[in-house]
Amino acid sequence: MAMTTTHTGLIGLGTMGAALALNIAEKGFPIAVWNRTGSVTEAFHAGAGDLAARITPTQSLADLVAAITPPRAIILMVPAGQAVDDQLAALAPLLGADDLVIDAGNANFRDTNRRDGAGLPFRFMGIGVSGGEEGARHGPAIMAGGPAAAWAQMKPVLQAIAARAEDSTPCADHMGPSGAGHFVKAVHNGIEYADMQMISEVYGVMRDGMGMGAAQIAPVFARWNEGVLQSYLIEISAAAAAAADPVSGQPMLDMIVDAAGQKGTGRWTAIEAQHLAAPVPVIEAAVMARNVSARRDERAAGEACFGKAAAKVDLPLEDLEQAMIAGKILCYAQGFAMMTAAAAEFGWALDMPAIARVWRAGCIIRSAMLNDMAEALADDPARNLILAPFFAAKLETALPALRRVVAAGALQGVPLPALSAGLAWFDLMRQARGTANMIQGQRDFFGAHGFDRVDGKPGKHGPWGA
Ligand code: 6PG
Repeated sequence: MAMTTTHTGLIGLGTMGAALALNIAEKGFPIAVWNRTGSVTEAFHAGAGDLAARITPTQSLADLVAAITPPRAIILMVPAGQAVDDQLAALAPLLGADDLVIDAGNANFRDTNRRDGAGLPFRFMGIGVSGGEEGARHGPAIMAGGPAAAWAQMKPVLQAIAARAEDSTPCADHMGPSGAGHFVKAVHNGIEYADMQMISEVYGVMRDGMGMGAAQIAPVFARWNEGVLQSYLIEISAAAAAAADPVSGQPMLDMIVDAAGQKGTGRWTAIEAQHLAAPVPVIEAAVMARNVSARRDERAAGEACFGKAAAKVDLPLEDLEQAMIAGKILCYAQGFAMMTAAAAEFGWALDMPAIARVWRAGCIIRSAMLNDMAEALADDPARNLILAPFFAAKLETALPALRRVVAAGALQGVPLPALSAGLAWFDLMRQARGTANMIQGQRDFFGAHGFDRVDGKPGKHGPWGA
């Protein structure tokens, strides 16, 4: 696999870019790098140790391009948004039709589609890279979008640097053309928000409803990480709960302000889901909860006005674990269904089992359950995941606990927006005769919008009269 000729370049030596460049060099691919601030490039090269021999630092974009032998592939690791457009414009006069530029940032897939269709004088790809700094350095999950030929060119590099699942499959694959890779990455992030929110909700039940301290909560998460819920996010939640603040000696979690930040990818997912009319209530609830978390003054005013909730939850911890299992299945079922809707809308052949396989390792939402999801989706990619026999059986077992947890939260004032949104969606999804007949009656009443009759007979208006 080791090469001697430099075909790959990288622009942007921030945390993620630097880690990715080292990963690429380590896997045997010589790489030329450039950063807007030249001293950063020099410092990066100086600190690259043994890998420095495979890295060519350059001090101008023209030098970067000159340091790469065609076929050139230049990876952009610059902040999403205008910086990408600026960089593409700066590269335009320097590159030819055979060169390839790869936006590896967290771009909005609509921007990737736009750039792809904008007549750039070089080939273009958008890839979603997940796993944070550690992933970028030692094995991220990669969701690639762009022309098949561009993927074929980059596949050896991207699969070499990617994480590997237990069966050694590299967690890097071609999702489809244009913005498909960044779209799948956005759904990944939506699910990331939802997983994080559900974990923080059960944390809230333990802390506020059961009076448990962080030190008692940590082993619970650690235990769950040995079972069905085994995942990176549960693992780090256990570690976060166990950590002590070096300044105060208090549990670290207790010293962290309860206002969540966000760069917007989860919000994009919720917005796109609305465009697609694809129900993703667990993700939407997670985005909503982050937005509420940021409104600290309003929440304080709310507590001052209405008083603190009673919040006494008397349930076995096993119920919380089962509620999380159910919530997770429901959330992923929604995410995959959203991608099925997107594939139809955008004319992409998104391969659901392949997506589940890519998410098995390297990315933030990696988990044991994704193995089973990949299998269930391979069995029937179009079927909603809750109907796959394996997950239907898991849900049958876990739902009573989810109901008890959501009910206890509702009675005691412990907020569980994501878990309860998942449950409400499930109850809608298992109801053959719903209640939208009332909505259709109302729409016809005030707007003569018409309805279909259950008996199939003609006549689509009610006897509401004038
Ligand atoms: C990943 C993550 C990453 C994301 C951070 C922060 O897959 O590695 O999704 O891409 O940027 O998790 O996201 P927020 O700031 O929106 O929480």
